[in-house]
Amino acid sequence: MSIKGKSFLKLLDFTPEEISDLIDFSAELKEKKKQGIPHRLCEGKNIVLLFEKASTRTRCAFEVAGYDLGMGVTYLDPAGSQMGNKESIEDTAKVLGRMYDGIEYRGFSQDIVEELAKYAGVPVWNGLTDEFHPTQILADFLTIKEHFGKLKGINFVFMGDARFNMGNSLMVGCAKMGINFTACTNKKYFPNKELTQKCLEIAKETGSTIIFEEDVDKAVKNADVICTDVWVSMGEKKEVWKERIEELLPYQVNKEVMKKAGENAIFMHCLPAFHDKKTTIGKQICDEFGLEALEVTDDVFTSKQSVVFQEAENRMHTIKAVMASTL
Ligand code: CP
Ligand code: NVA
Repeated sequence: MSIKGKSFLKLLDFTPEEISDLIDFSAELKEKKKQGIPHRLCEGKNIVLLFEKASTRTRCAFEVAGYDLGMGVTYLDPAGSQMGNKESIEDTAKVLGRMYDGIEYRGFSQDIVEELAKYAGVPVWNGLTDEFHPTQILADFLTIKEHFGKLKGINFVFMGDARFNMGNSLMVGCAKMGINFTACTNKKYFPNKELTQKCLEIAKETGSTIIFEEDVDKAVKNADVICTDVWVSMGEKKEVWKERIEELLPYQVNKEVMKKAGENAIFMHCLPAFHDKKTTIGKQICDEFGLEALEVTDDVFTSKQSVVFQEAENRMHTIKAVMASTL
């Protein structure tokens, strides 16, 4: 099965077999990297990374993966291109598609990355939009597979803001791979109905469940994975913090939650995380609301159950697999 020439915009566009192949290929590339075996599978090609939002992991993962594959890499920062201001998405896509073999885009609306892909004539990879963060899910699933040896039948619980890019993409990914997905949060933060409907149909075929649950005790019982994300995402106004904290603090991942899930459960987070007061924003918000941490407490984040840095490393191996498979 080949996905050569195809863009990687959202998991809905891929079959369970294709996703599974990408995860297995990532594991193979990870092993090669660990053993120092060269894998310059895209020698001589060039890629461009378009970032309209900040990034540490995604940018570095694309850059290092690009170099490992033998490619030239151009990075364009949020202020560094004409796109949107002086040049349409369509024109930008047509220009970049003539110079590069692949384009990564991180930004706001999913429509932008879809439009880039429509006109570029080369594969476009979604490095995060408001709606989806598909490369992150591949890294998450590689991490789960490394830990549990399988994906099918795993009980995955996402706590917090489940209606943004991470919650949406995890729900899709879980449905595709036969993972039981639970969104444990205030009902205001459940993924939207249209996407949920699509996922329920996929889940019916793969034999997984999709559950929305406001009761923490019920949701985390028998969980294999407890996952969360920031409560206010990039591009959202800082004024929403007050409401988010009021509504999502009951869904903070803390020791009690992990205890209810059991000692075999792992903790995951795409990062960056507000688990202490060592960041400017984290400290400011924690001080304002009298908290020590936001979506996850520091004792959970730094515990043995936490696999967050393995998950972060896996961004690179999985992005490498996406590029090598589509170029
Ligand atoms: N998880 C993730 O996408 O991190 P960055 O924002 O640092 O790329
Ligand atoms: N939901 C977060 C994910 C960061 C990787 C955001 O969009 O800011």
